[in-house]
Amino acid sequence: MKKNLNQKLINLIEYYNLINANFLLSNVPIKRNSVNSTISFSGTKIEKLNKLKKKIELIKNCELKKNATNLVFGDGNINSKIMIIGEGPGANEDVEGKPFVGRAGKLLDKMLASIKLNRTKVYISNVVNYRPPENRKPNESEIDRYLPLLKAHIEIINPKILVLLGSTALNALIGNDTVISKARGQWVQKEIGKANPWIIASFHPAFLMRQPEQKKLAWIDLKMIREKSKILNI
Ligand code: URA
Repeated sequence: MKKNLNQKLINLIEYYNLINANFLLSNVPIKRNSVNSTISFSGTKIEKLNKLKKKIELIKNCELKKNATNLVFGDGNINSKIMIIGEGPGANEDVEGKPFVGRAGKLLDKMLASIKLNRTKVYISNVVNYRPPENRKPNESEIDRYLPLLKAHIEIINPKILVLLGSTALNALIGNDTVISKARGQWVQKEIGKANPWIIASFHPAFLMRQPEQKKLAWIDLKMIREKSKILNI
């Protein structure tokens, strides 16, 4: 019985090595952010966005893309100085091809309205552009694959304020040595390609629907965004 278990463990470790998932066995935080280079495109802002979208459409051998109906690229004002990043499309977003149109999106709209913002005043995208099956979180290799595209997206939009909703966006862009409950509500400035936005993490609206008592903390973050917008003349 014990021998059997040991063999199973050895097989599992070999499998993790095979799929290059050593991070599962390690407690060293994943550092995705040491290299500050992005894929770059030429042309006007719209041309660059179209080229980026085309590049995402051409992605091959992606489990997310295979199972999704539509590419969910971005929504809102491409000239906005406030960009919001969620995790990945859900079922409604997959059908409509637009980020945050489901229940979490309705709450996001209310949160934005509370600081006099709406989709004509912000730009919204996600860490991954295709819906993860069964609404699971995108895994590490999916995040790694989409991260250069997300960084290019941020560089093209060139926001002064970048809002990361939830731990997936926080971990992808800032690193995963900190949890959302500790990292939220703090400004950090960081170069992402040629963009140099002020970044704040806050709770994801889907989390707030499950834990409404945390909305008071999200409200603090929203007020911080409102204040920073004033300071930055947005
Ligand atoms: N949740 C997200 O993170 N993004 C969406 O677009 C919708 C729900």
